[in-house]
Amino acid sequence: MAKLVINANKKLSRIHKEIQGQFSEHLGRCIYEGLYVGEHSEIPNVNGMRTDVVEALKQIRVPVLRWPGGCFADEYHWKDGVGPKENRKKIVNTHWGGVVEDNSFGTHEYFELCRQLGCETYVNGNMGSGTVQEMSEWVEYMTFEGVSPMADLRAKNGHEKAWKVDFFGVGNENWGCGGNMNPEFYGNMYRRYQTYVRNYAGNQKIQKIACGANVDDYEWTEEVLKACFRRNTDGQHGFMDGLSLHYYTHPGGWENKGSATDFDEKMWYQTMKKTLYMEELISRHGAIMDQYDPKKEVGMIVDEWGTWFNVEPGTNPGFLYQQNTMRDALVAGINLNIFNKHSDRVKMANIAQMVNVLQSVILTEGPKMIKTPTYHVFDMYKYHQDADLLDSSLETKQVGMEECNMVPNLTESVSVDAQGVMHITMTNLDLQTAYPIEATILGKKPEHITAEIVTGEMHDKNTFEDPDCVKVQSFNGVAKVHAGIAFTIPACSVLHIAIS
Ligand code: AHR
Repeated sequence: MAKLVINANKKLSRIHKEIQGQFSEHLGRCIYEGLYVGEHSEIPNVNGMRTDVVEALKQIRVPVLRWPGGCFADEYHWKDGVGPKENRKKIVNTHWGGVVEDNSFGTHEYFELCRQLGCETYVNGNMGSGTVQEMSEWVEYMTFEGVSPMADLRAKNGHEKAWKVDFFGVGNENWGCGGNMNPEFYGNMYRRYQTYVRNYAGNQKIQKIACGANVDDYEWTEEVLKACFRRNTDGQHGFMDGLSLHYYTHPGGWENKGSATDFDEKMWYQTMKKTLYMEELISRHGAIMDQYDPKKEVGMIVDEWGTWFNVEPGTNPGFLYQQNTMRDALVAGINLNIFNKHSDRVKMANIAQMVNVLQSVILTEGPKMIKTPTYHVFDMYKYHQDADLLDSSLETKQVGMEECNMVPNLTESVSVDAQGVMHITMTNLDLQTAYPIEATILGKKPEHITAEIVTGEMHDKNTFEDPDCVKVQSFNGVAKVHAGIAFTIPACSVLHIAIS
């Protein structure tokens, strides 16, 4: 019997709802087809946004949406995407398949999508190939209320009122596709560009996100912070509110990332091991951030994470379309538990990407739509949004098939929401063994318990022919015991228990 101990009297940090954020890039069929089909499409839509997809996304309470990239962001010139659609420039999407980008989805459409989703906005600016003036004018266009050249242009283009930009990224992956900069150069450029990301709306402060490291590039973190971390005279953290981190799970390595659906048990554990590496990355980048920002006011923003496999056979290699199985469900559950446990520092995370690209929550095919196993994990974890992380610890043991790929059998995180309901989320990484757990709960007597689970065989997935093979099912196996609760978590599963 494994022991889980939860201290309901010890709230550790707020789990910012943005930890369950999403990312949508002009890449493959994410925006076009997946989210936006245009007003004249036969697929039911509201102002061009697919009704089925928007409704499904509302159910998981998408808190924030990052756009327009990714690598695309550093080649995006926002003025190409505003004004009458017939006049919008057709450009080549050089990063993603060399296809024509007709710019029919631009700034106005993005804010309309976020309005429909009821989510916050995270716009990623172009530092790689754009000018300071261009970035500055975009911010003015989006947020200035009053008379100004850009506010007038916005009104002329059909939107009188300013929008709210919650987060603004100054460049993306500027160590690579965003300009191949070195950290000192980026740090200095960041200082300059961010100066013109003005807070026109007074108390509606735009949170500025600096481009952080690729995986374990700790030198990048150190050097960028050295160049840009400053305290304002009022004691605030100055130039930046967040520093990003990108880490993908690609179990087969960068050259051959492996199939999304055809994998063996060894590959399963290798995927789990690589996913758990997120923990070390957050701790080590976090330790560097602590030296500059011991009060943890600057957020670590993991704005790209998730599985990255070989594309589905027969699809455009530049479109990054992949299927999603129970393995992805576990990757999502593990990562979200890690983010929760580090919510004192991790203030946002954005899975890549929302629809039809990489570890999507939704896949579409013409008018059809399916929810992936990853979607169902987000559906169960949504109760952690803006809840307080509780102190918890769990006994684990190492499982796996090879010495080099052993992993802990279980991961967990626990929170209490505004209504006082406790939420336990747990993953069982073991493909064969179910584990009995006794949870000692200090400071709370369980009265009412409900539980739900996503479980199955490792290859289980949803298809357009069988859309509900993997779904959230109710779980009746939780009993009240003297110390708290007891239950057995099945092999290969993600579990959510709510206790009031
Ligand atoms: O999400 C796909 C790509 O991965 C993004 O465009 C880029 O930022 C990252 O390398």
